[in-house]
Parts: sequence; structure tokens; C-alpha cells
Amino acid sequence: MPGLHPPIARLIGFRRFYLFWIKFPKACKITRVKALTNPYTPNAGAQPQALVGRDDQLESFDLLLARIERGRTEQSMIVTGLRGVGKTVLLALFRRKALARDWVVVEIEVSKHDDSEFRRDVAVQMRSALLELSPKARWTDRVKHAAAVLKSFSVSVDPAGTWSAGLGVEAAEGFADHADLSLDLTDLFLAVGEAAKEHEKGLVLLLDEVQFLKPSQLEALIQALHKMVQRNLPITMVAAGLPHIAELAGDAKSYAERLFKFPALGNLSAEDAREALSRPAADEGVTYTQEALDAAVAITGGYPYFIQELGYAVWTVAEGPVITRDDMLAAEPGYEAKLDASFFRVRLDRATELQRAYLRAMAELGSAPQKASDVAAIMGRTSTNLGPTRAELINMGLLYTPEHGYAAFTVPHFDRFLRRAIPQLEVPPLKARSKGA
Ligand SMILES: Nc1ncnc2c1ncn2[C@@H]1O[C@H](COP(=O)(O)OP(=O)(O)OP(=O)(O)O)[C@@H](O)[C@H]1O
Ligand SMILES: [Mg+2]
Repeated sequence: MPGLHPPIARLIGFRRFYLFWIKFPKACKITRVKALTNPYTPNAGAQPQALVGRDDQLESFDLLLARIERGRTEQSMIVTGLRGVGKTVLLALFRRKALARDWVVVEIEVSKHDDSEFRRDVAVQMRSALLELSPKARWTDRVKHAAAVLKSFSVSVDPAGTWSAGLGVEAAEGFADHADLSLDLTDLFLAVGEAAKEHEKGLVLLLDEVQFLKPSQLEALIQALHKMVQRNLPITMVAAGLPHIAELAGDAKSYAERLFKFPALGNLSAEDAREALSRPAADEGVTYTQEALDAAVAITGGYPYFIQELGYAVWTVAEGPVITRDDMLAAEPGYEAKLDASFFRVRLDRATELQRAYLRAMAELGSAPQKASDVAAIMGRTSTNLGPTRAELINMGLLYTPEHGYAAFTVPHFDRFLRRAIPQLEVPPLKARSKGA
């Protein structure tokens, strides 16, 4: 209702609903009940009712913790995958598993920050971790030393001592005060690792959106973790990020590929995708026909987030208790419209005209990774001219580089959306690029 004052619009909406409710009370009740029982979770990081297809990663995580508990070393993990494949959900499961084994968990969602913000995030979390390791009243000399190192680590970004308030220690001179993130983080990990070992506890860092780390931050983390392995101390890290993080880690430190496993999360197998849909429904006494499930696999491509959206949509349209292929096809337009208006649209809205044209040109070529020169060719420009645009799109997290010279979408089915949203590729006329644009 464009142009209407929001409260008036809301009132009219309510009046409409009221009239509908008077006329069709049963329909309203059914809609409400359906919304209440809808078992699907189309939200970022929302734990699905049926988490399927992740047994390998869960096993690897168990093994990682179990080996460290036994004083052995093991490669940590950086889980990679496109948007919406379930990285955050998996990290949340790792967290639960670690807590159940009595580990201390440090969670950080990385954002694009400078080193001092990063240092602050780490300091705040490590402070909680130390207090969790042992109540302050029972701190041993080792824990007190770790607290003092933490104070040194944070003093450059928190001279007033706000975050280290309550630790009751002075900064440890000569530790974590080198004004170098790698050296300082290594000192901090060493001190906390020794304290954790003394308490026979492990500490696991769970880092999400790790592709947003600056190279210096990624390098510092890798170096500090390397030291943990060398000294056999019980600190490890499991991270998740977009696919090119494996390459970024390798660029940061050549030994990164030996320090980490890089399990890739992708779309679910057809069998797992069917289960992701059917299991939550079965708990509500609803079943799917085989044809309905096959149609769902075809529509979603087995991508976890799309499965949740489609399940959510079909639940609202189907009469049940058996969901058919026709129900699935009836739900598809609403499912697609919802994705277009939210998941896909927010990403496109952030792009400039030229960036959009670049994305659209990539979509023209298909869903596979595309060569920079091919994209430039269909835009009638040169790779050099479009290099900055491509770099901006990578920096914004819309594209990643699966291999040198190629770029791919970080969002599954983005090419199809772009073709829907921008029917015709139109390249803006060439203009001189302003400095820094
Ligand atoms: N293994 C799974 N089985 C079924 N559904 C899943 C699974 N993993 C995740 N989901 C669902 O997929 C959606 C996306 O999950 P999540 O937010 O963890 O993805 P992500 O990879 O972290 O995405 P992003 O890169 O955008 O942060 C959620 O709605 C979640 O409920
Ligand atoms: Mg996530």
C-alpha cells in the first residue's frame, strides 16, 4: 500500500484479516496451526530439525578433540562452502559437542576489522575462557600468568584496561607486547595453552566467516596454532568460511595445508535432501510422496537453505497429511519469490551498476566458474579494465576465486536469479574511474 501512513495501512490490513476471519474462521485457524507446526528452519544459522549429511565432519571433530585429550596432535579443520550450505549450523554443533566433553569454547564471528578490533575480540573472548577454565579465587600461578599475558596483549588497544578489569593482574612485561600480532597471539596462546594443560582441559576456537580475516590476522592465527601443535598444547581451532579460504590460508603460511583439513560442504545428496524434508514432517504426522520429494530435489538442487525454504513454503500451501508433487509445484513460485526478495536481492542491492553488469555477464556464461577474460569479452571490455570491478565483487563476498584467473558465485543458483532479475545484459558506458573507486 504505497503512500499510506503505516498505522493506517496496518489497520486496513487488520480489518481485511478480521473480515476474512468472520467469513472463513476455519481457514484462519488452519493457517495459524500450520504456521505453528511448520518444522522447517529457513533462517541463517538455524539448527534444522533433521541435520543430515554431515556425519564425516562430525566424526572428524570428535576425533580431533579425542586425540588432543590424549595428548596427541591432529589437523584442525577449516570448513568451506558457499552461502547457505550449513557452515554456521555445523559450528554450532561442534560447540555443543565440545561443551559436552567439558572443553572451553571460544566463538568469534569474524567481521572485516582492523588489527586492533580483532585483538579486542580475541582479548574479550580469552578473558571469558580464562575465567571458565578456573574460577578466579582458585587461579594457579599458570592461570595468573596467562591473565597477565592477556593484559599485555590487550593493553595496546585498551590502555584504560576496561576488558582486563577484574583480572587483578599486572601486564606481563616481555610477553605479548611486541606490537606484532603474530608474536603477541602466539605468546597469548602459549600462556593460555599451558594453563589449560595444567587443568587438563582443552580450548577450541570456533571462527565463523573466516574469509573476512585480513591476511595479517589469518597469518597470526595460523602461526599461533602451529606453535600449539609443536608444543603439544590443548588449543585448537575449527573455522568456517567461503571456499577460497583454503587458498588464502595457503598464501598466509605454506604449512597451513598440513595444519588443517579443509572439508568442503556442498549440496546434499538426493537421498539426504529427501531426508532433510521428510524427517521433520514425519514428526508432525505428515508424509511426502516420492514424486514430491524428487521434485523438491530438482527445485532446490539439494542446497540446505533452499530445502528449508521450500519445505516451509510447501507446508503453508499443502492440505496434507500427504504432500504431493502438485503441492510442491504450487509452492515453487512462492518459494522462488521469497528467495528473490530476500536471499538474492540483498546481495544484488549492494552492487553498483557496473558490478551488476559484471555479475549479469557471468550469469550469461552459466553457473560454473568463469574466466575473467571471457566475462570481459562478453561485456565488450578488457580484463584489465574490469579487474578492479572483479576485485570489488570478491571483496564484497559475492564472488570467489576457485583457481587463478577464474571467479565463481558464492551463492548457489545466483546465475538463475540474475537472469530473472536482469533479463538483458546492459553494460554501462565506459567512464574514467575515479581514484580509489
Ligand atoms: N545438514 C543440514 N541439513 C538440513 N538443513 C540444513 C543443514 N545445514 C544447514 N541447514 C539449513 O540451511 C540453512 C543455512 O544454514 P547456515 O546458516 O548454517 O549456512 P551457512 O553456510 O553458514 O551460510 P552463510 O555462508 O550464508 O553464513 C539454515 O536454514 C539451516 O537450517
Ligand atoms: Mg553462516
